[in-house]
This record gives sequence, C-alpha cells and structure tokens, in this order.
Amino acid sequence: MEGIHSHVTPVRWRGGLELLDQRALPHRLQWLRPRRMGEAVRLIRDLAVRGAPAIGIAAAYALAQEARRSSSLARLRAAAARLAAARPTAVNLRWAVERVVAAAAEAPPTGRAAVALATARAIHEEDAAACRAIGREGAALFPGQVALLTHCNAGALATGGIGTALGIVRVVHAQGRLLRLYACEARPVLQGARLTAWEAIQDGIPVTLLPDSAAASLLASGAVQGVVVGADRIAADGAVANKVGTYPLAVLAHRHGVPFVVAAPRSTFDLTCPNGAAIPIEERSGEEVRRLAGVRVAPRSVAVFNPAFDVTPPELITAIVSEHGVARPVTAASVRALVG
Ligand code: MRU
Repeated sequence: MEGIHSHVTPVRWRGGLELLDQRALPHRLQWLRPRRMGEAVRLIRDLAVRGAPAIGIAAAYALAQEARRSSSLARLRAAAARLAAARPTAVNLRWAVERVVAAAAEAPPTGRAAVALATARAIHEEDAAACRAIGREGAALFPGQVALLTHCNAGALATGGIGTALGIVRVVHAQGRLLRLYACEARPVLQGARLTAWEAIQDGIPVTLLPDSAAASLLASGAVQGVVVGADRIAADGAVANKVGTYPLAVLAHRHGVPFVVAAPRSTFDLTCPNGAAIPIEERSGEEVRRLAGVRVAPRSVAVFNPAFDVTPPELITAIVSEHGVARPVTAASVRALVG
C-alpha cells in the first residue's frame, strides 16, 4: 500500500509557504505565496486552503516563516493566536500552532526558525503517514466489492497525504474493489463538486457527483455499501464535527442499514471537549448561501443560517478510524482506548 499516492497536494514548502488556491479549482491550478502573517490568516479564513489537517500544516509553515522574520516568542505566540482563530472548529489548526510554538520555545533564540520549520515538516510528514495508516485500517472495514459515498472533501486536498476518508477510498480502489465513489456536492461552498470530483478524476477514481438532496434516494436504492467522511473535531464521547450535511447522512445511513465510518488522524481528536455540544461551530457569511458561483440566487436582504459544520452523535457512527486503529462501537471508552 506504500505505493498509493495522489497527484494533488494543497500545501508545499519551497523556501517559503505555498498554497494551492482551492477557491480556483477546478478551473485553474494556481499557487499562492503568502509572505505576511495577515495574508496567511486571510487565505485560511477564505478557504484557499481548507480541510482540518491541511490548515494545520499550512499554519505551521506560516509560523516557520514568522520565526524566520523574528526570534521573539511573544510575536510567535501572537501569530499563533491569530492563525488559530481563523477557523474555530478544526482542532488540528490549534494543535499544530501550539506544537510549533512549544518546540520553538524550547530552542535558543538563534535556533527558533530552524526548529519551527523542522516541526512544521514533521507535522506534514506525520499526517501523510497517518493517512496511509487510516487508508489501510479503514479499507478493511469494507469487504468485497463496494460503492462508497462521501461528503465534502476529506482527500489529498485536505491533508498532507492521500486523504482520510479518500485515503480509505484510494486503498479500496487500489485493491480492485471500488465499484464507484459517490460524492455529495456539499452546498454552499461545493467542496464535493469542485474538489472531490476533481481530485478523484485526477487520480483515476470512478466518481459520480450528486446533489446533497439526492443522498436519501441513493442510500434507499441500495447502491452504496458504506459512507466515509472526515472530521474537524472529535469530542471525548465520540461526537464528530464535520462539514455541514454530515449529520443528515449519518441519519440516512442508520435508516438504511449502511455502515457510517469517520476517518481522522490523532490531531483531530480533542479529549478536552467532553461532547458535541462543546464543539465550537463556525458560522460563515450569508453571502455563501445567497450566491452560487458568484451569482446572486436569493434576495440580498434575506436572513441566512450558514453553519460550516454539524455534529454527528456517536450512536450514529459505526466506527472511527485513526492511524492507531479503529474505535467500534463509538463510545467514550473506545475513543479513549484509541487515542487517549
Ligand atoms: O470547510 P472545510 O472545507 O475546511 O471543511 C472540511 C471538512 O469538513 C472535512 O471533511 C474535514 O476537515 C476533514 S479533512 C481530512
């Protein structure tokens, strides 16, 4: 399985931080080079880079750039706080910046830049390894020939490797067992339509796109043997925050007896968060809903409810897969045994 890879990558270091602008996909491949901290914060908030592990990796490299500019720990801590606040739900972001700051704080002032960069690289490489392990562990949960349904993008574009949910899909595909990947479009930002569909096509994975509202009919038809999604934060009781629209898929999967599997690295678990109600849910601008691909589709003055994530309760989740193994059934005890 070591040979499984993706042709796409969202973040790279080439003497400085570079981000593939995911806002431009699937139309244009365009790399951005944010050199100032304010730019990096804005690009994370504006979804130029997105996906919980990828924003953690990007923020870690942004801090490495900051440490190169100044050896002041106070300045590094302030930058870390700004980065962490850019997107409040994905705990990988906070985890990554705290790790870089802690490592830099241990180093003498002259060594801080090198240590910050080495830590960012380690976070990146460890995430790639975690994705491979998740792919292996998760694929074993779906025996035989299977069609899988996913939501949003939990692929290479969202991580430092082959993806979490899409890591599983890639391994099943490499084993010759994937009948088809179904991708929900993920309104309002369309990560499924713009990103998962594109990424799957780049990597030769057979993919069918569907409107979010068609998931019920698809699951009722019996065409899908499993639902695989990523996560932005997993609470101590196993509740999972992920892209809005994940919770309804879990309800539907339960209704139709289809396994519902969450895939996430250790860095997505927040055992200090007791349950789903304690997970902060990012609310985004109403303009994301009033407009579709830049075109206004709703009255300018209409009120909008636009949470970026929802919370799926543990009892609707068949299994959670991390690089350390599988929690099944999902309970506080099994989560603690997996990553505690
Ligand atoms: O708003 P986004 O695009 O950052 O949301 C991404 C998701 O919800 C992903 O499923 C999650 O971050 C896991 S990515 C491996």
